[in-house]
Amino acid sequence: MPALVLLGAQWGDEGKGKATDLLGGSVDYVVRYQGGNNAGHTVVVGDQKYALHLLPSGILSPGCTPVIGNGVVVDPSVLLSELSGLNERGVDTSKLLISGNAHIITPYNVTVDKVTERFLGKRKIGTTGRGIGPTYADKINRVGIRVQDLYDESILTQKVEAALDVKNQMLTKLYNRRAIAVEQVVEELLGYAEKLAPYVADTVLVLNEALEQDKVVLFEGGQGTLLDIDHGTYPFVTSSNPTAGGACTGAGVGPTKISRVIGILKAYTTRVGAGPFPTELFDEDGEALRRIGGERGVTTGRDRRCGWFDAVIARYATRVNGLTDFFLTKLDVLTGWEQIPVCVAYEIDGRRVEELPYSQTDFHHAKPVYEMLPGWNEDISKAKSFSDLPKNAQAYVKALEEMSGAPISAIGVGPGRDETIEINSFL
Ligand code: IMP
Repeated sequence: MPALVLLGAQWGDEGKGKATDLLGGSVDYVVRYQGGNNAGHTVVVGDQKYALHLLPSGILSPGCTPVIGNGVVVDPSVLLSELSGLNERGVDTSKLLISGNAHIITPYNVTVDKVTERFLGKRKIGTTGRGIGPTYADKINRVGIRVQDLYDESILTQKVEAALDVKNQMLTKLYNRRAIAVEQVVEELLGYAEKLAPYVADTVLVLNEALEQDKVVLFEGGQGTLLDIDHGTYPFVTSSNPTAGGACTGAGVGPTKISRVIGILKAYTTRVGAGPFPTELFDEDGEALRRIGGERGVTTGRDRRCGWFDAVIARYATRVNGLTDFFLTKLDVLTGWEQIPVCVAYEIDGRRVEELPYSQTDFHHAKPVYEMLPGWNEDISKAKSFSDLPKNAQAYVKALEEMSGAPISAIGVGPGRDETIEINSFL
């Protein structure tokens, strides 16, 4: 019953696609459990590069069944265009399963996301503008539209009416926008029903049966621990639970079934959107990390904010997720620095603090306390085992492992599928 959770240990964009893809060949099911097309995975297979937003990266591994769980929010137009884009490149997507309980990102959710951000002005979250927050808000407010609603026109119409009732008041009276017509939304949504029908399934039953049959199931989180609505840097977070518990609720699998929780950890730190980021760099080092690491959002095309590795965050990720392993990515990006600073603690109002402060005010005031580790100049992209790494790179990895509280079981040394050092097998 190997059930693995793979999630971002920082603010997302840690290179999860590469990790999922590495396991892809031996995994029977890859499940997304939260988020939507705000995510962005780049997966490199041979000389082909794929940018996935909503689909689980297992879609690229023949033999693997990709699943969109009940905790995901689905924009049907994005999903269908992602599927047809893959089909045009010869990828078979027929195995995809979508939970009938997943919520739909409607056109009005996208509108509300954009106008709310505009209205917030300098207090904006810097969302991806994909309608994620408003769709989860509708879910919690019990006015959401689910995938299964596409197959009952009368119910769908009633639900869209209920959802638009308040929103149209808000759009017209507060935001000075035009009202959205119920019929237009219903017609658009019904247009997706037939195309999605072959994929809709009782994914909870499928996954639990698969686990009973000892199949390997991989739960793939979008975003990252510090963007979690409960455990992240609220309010500068996404509206779902990327942390490990989210895999259980977002896929309908009990916590006793989870055998391993792997945190993807970049060898430095990046963040997109607004919010505190203690190790952020505003100098040429930050610029170099961005350039060498190709730190530009797959989904939004925005430049990512870049900074040094933060061990306080990594320790926090170990704790809130119960991590059993780390997959350290992009170690190669750090090649060429004489010394590499690593944040080991924070200084907050004159005090040294070893753990992430629960108070957001304190976190905003946190200044990094750095330890300097010696760098390396050798090209590490061809390293196949830990001992192939230069001594200083080995020491950097070991230091991170010690500070972060879980073993580093794999290391990414380049973007390609085979540019990974496996230390302990995940299966
Ligand atoms: P939303 O998820 O579009 O509501 O955006 C909320 C916050 O999460 C913003 O700061 C986004 O930049 C950030 N965010 C959402 N998805 C990702 C992701 O996949 N990687 C990194 N940041 C993300």
